[in-house]
Amino acid sequence: MTVLNPLDQAAQDVLLGNDRGGYTIPTARLYPFQWNWDSMFSAWGYSTFDIARAWQEVELLFASQWATGMVPHMVFHEVDPDYFPGPEVWGADQSPPTSGISQPPVAATLIRKIYEADPETGLPHLQSLYPKLVAWHDWWMRERCQDGPVAIVHPWESGRDNCPDWDIGMAHVPVDDSDPFIRKARENKRRDLGLLNADQRPVASDYDRYLAILAFGRSVNWEDREMIENGPFLMADPGITFVLLRAFADLIELGRVLGEDTSGLVAQEARLRDGADKLWNPETGWFDAYDLRSGAFAGVLGSGAFLAYLAGVSRPALDAHFARSWDKVAYGIPSADPESERFERRRYWRGPVWPVVNSLIAMGLKDMGRKEAEARLRDETARLIEGGGFWEYYDPMDGAPCGGPSFGWTAAVWLTWCGVNRTPLAAGKE
Ligand code: GLC
Repeated sequence: MTVLNPLDQAAQDVLLGNDRGGYTIPTARLYPFQWNWDSMFSAWGYSTFDIARAWQEVELLFASQWATGMVPHMVFHEVDPDYFPGPEVWGADQSPPTSGISQPPVAATLIRKIYEADPETGLPHLQSLYPKLVAWHDWWMRERCQDGPVAIVHPWESGRDNCPDWDIGMAHVPVDDSDPFIRKARENKRRDLGLLNADQRPVASDYDRYLAILAFGRSVNWEDREMIENGPFLMADPGITFVLLRAFADLIELGRVLGEDTSGLVAQEARLRDGADKLWNPETGWFDAYDLRSGAFAGVLGSGAFLAYLAGVSRPALDAHFARSWDKVAYGIPSADPESERFERRRYWRGPVWPVVNSLIAMGLKDMGRKEAEARLRDETARLIEGGGFWEYYDPMDGAPCGGPSFGWTAAVWLTWCGVNRTPLAAGKE
């Protein structure tokens, strides 16, 4: 007899508890709106027990797609005066209000998985979403890939908000002390600091700069051209580049299913694959972020580099760094190099492990036939969740849960990947 793992039910309860009617928040209080890639993971999670709800999640996200093709990183469906920075700080002219930047385009990859879970009911949804996905991918290629790989205009666009990759680009973001929103943030309007330990969250000087980039975006109505040509921050991101490269492969497959002409996508994918080569830093032997304003490499190894596997890309030097940094921690994959002096095991994206990133790296490992590595990563991720529950992220050294609790995408990753066929823990064993 199959014994149902009680964590499966708990994971479903997390998603349902975060459901706000058509969209799922990442976690109550800390993140009370719809976030782009969180929502896609939630949808993938729903697809294991409520396929209609999965499609609803995706469709509501894409309902906020901009005329330019961009799918925004946040959608403010409800007013929450306590949240900062809210719609008034972004100043993007959209209804419902949204942020002015995007987030890692995992949509095509996860939509493919949702579709394949139930092709029959999925087909009409796929038909209506396909042109939207094509438009979003076009937007990335047109507005963010002028130099080859994907460039981001704000660290928040990367989804790996304050990883050390962005330090060199952030260093020259000017901060105007008279900006009313920066003053507001300094007067302790950051909700994250009221809810979590400050030693887990971005430091104040970084936060000022995040808001300074928002002030610039607001002043140019989030015009992509302006952001790229004159914005205070512009860095090439290995993470998004590889996520998009993988997403192209999935989108092409979906196009084939629908009988569409995919030759344009194939050409874009090839162009991006060439572009990704520019991220290779021969001195360090990894895919490295670089600052488009100065041309300098960040010289930082982070989990973005390992997303190369998601796109089926690997190199011996990268594999060596992967093994080295994984072996330095008890639970992989650390978001920053554990041997770097910038590594901080509990600070946001500067060391901790994110189950959601693990699931993407594992998808690549599996497709590349690296079964042992995939199984090890799956087991370590499952043990983090079994030990602490569904948290935002974890300390890679001792597995301590960090960030927000009852986190949607962690629950989704349990249901879709690391918790599948997991033997329930014996009673009394923590
Ligand atoms: C943080 C993360 C981002 C995520 C959001 C909601 O901003 O860095 O990747 O989408 O929280 O979970």
